Amino acid sequence: MAEEAVLGYLENNTEISDSGTFAEERGINHDEIVNIIKSLNGFRLVDAQDIKRERWVLTNEGKTYAEDGSPEVQLFLAVPPEGITREELQKKLKPTIYQIGCQQAIKNKWIEMGKSQVSRKLQHVDDRVRDALIQIQNGEAVGPDDINALKRRKLITSQIWKGYSVTKGPKYAPKRKKVATDLTRENLQRGDWKEVEFKEYNFLAKGQPTEGGCLHPLLKVRRQIQMIFLQMGFEEMPTNNFVESSFWNFDALFQPQQHPARDSHDTFFLKEPSTTRTLPEDYVERVKRVHESGGYGSRGYGYEWKRDEANKNLLRTHTTAVSSRMLYALAQGPFAPKSYYSIDRVFRNEAVDRTHLAEFHQIEGLICDRGLTLGHLIGVLHDFFSRLGMSKLKFKPAYNPYTEPSMEIFSYHEGLQKWVEIGNSGMFRPEMLLPMGLPDDVQVIAWGLSLERPTMILYGIDNIRDLFGHKVDLSLIKRNPVCSIGL
Ligand code: PHE
Repeated sequence: MAEEAVLGYLENNTEISDSGTFAEERGINHDEIVNIIKSLNGFRLVDAQDIKRERWVLTNEGKTYAEDGSPEVQLFLAVPPEGITREELQKKLKPTIYQIGCQQAIKNKWIEMGKSQVSRKLQHVDDRVRDALIQIQNGEAVGPDDINALKRRKLITSQIWKGYSVTKGPKYAPKRKKVATDLTRENLQRGDWKEVEFKEYNFLAKGQPTEGGCLHPLLKVRRQIQMIFLQMGFEEMPTNNFVESSFWNFDALFQPQQHPARDSHDTFFLKEPSTTRTLPEDYVERVKRVHESGGYGSRGYGYEWKRDEANKNLLRTHTTAVSSRMLYALAQGPFAPKSYYSIDRVFRNEAVDRTHLAEFHQIEGLICDRGLTLGHLIGVLHDFFSRLGMSKLKFKPAYNPYTEPSMEIFSYHEGLQKWVEIGNSGMFRPEMLLPMGLPDDVQVIAWGLSLERPTMILYGIDNIRDLFGHKVDLSLIKRNPVCSIGL
């Protein structure tokens, strides 16, 4: 009703100059009018300008006097023309009225207070205080002297009154159209979507507040392992390319092109782009030669190495692909010893079960220096794993195309009371390092392990699918404690 009143009035008039009088004339509550004006203004149907006015309102005391008369007049009327004793007079009035009434009536010289007798000095008095209060209550103007007197007696206080003046807005219409917020099935079926006016998007809306974030256990363990590497003086390798060429992932690592890992059953090859664009040509030539016929004291594999096979793009199957790039880059400058590490995602085309996923994370460390031996590797592994809380280690000879010797790493698990395999390691072969251009007395010791394995052990998770992937229970992630490796 208030909305129709405002819009309807503006149809024939240019302005509502004062929402207060407008509301009063129509017997509508002013607050209701104000809410409607704010809403119409928001949708630009009207333009509203603030009006502020200071006005006087009666205090509670003021209101009782407007009703019953001022105390001084009440007192005056209680004094009969023949006079009255103080005692009698006091009995006729409320204590506050008697007290205030005496003060004011004496001040106005209306009565005389004798020792025991009270008498009138006038026959008749006017209640100007009450009259002024009633005028203010009715919103009528009152002179400044009266205002000051009433203010001093705390019978009135000032109040800021807020209202609006209103004119037509740019989107004015005599009736507000209901705008739709959703396109419904019914809109589509009835075909009325063509006529429906939709609410505009509010791109400035704040949106739902997010719940506090929390770190995934893999991130917590990664952070701890990162700290261990940094404490040991290792530098992080850039692992930000999941897509790699077969060349860096396999060929540079002296992994023959017929190796079963290079089959699509084990590796994800890319369809688009299916091949790499550039490779360092003279290095490619040296890699081809070492595969085909060896060199550097090796006999090679004795097969015909194919460039097409090396060009094929894949999702890297291990972070050793990054290590091979880093070692090649290192070989291009004057030699300096390096310790490198990385912790990042790798991909394998594997049947998913409780301990295997098609994507997981590898931790890799390597040290490149002159005169390194297997003894150095064993020593560094003891240092590294004891920092992870695993100080009982055993090594078992193993095979990797790119390391010789190679060792599987086992750690004694006190809880399970048995040896568990925790990683793989070795010394990179000369067939890998010498074609890169590294000096021939430089050795590289290296090791790798999954990030998931220690995380599952630390957090007591026995199914990898509870840790990573779409079946992860988010509340479990939120409740997980901080990582406490090696404590
Ligand atoms: N690349 C190996 C793997 O994927 C780990 C490894 C790294 C082994 C470095 C030896 C040296 O399992």
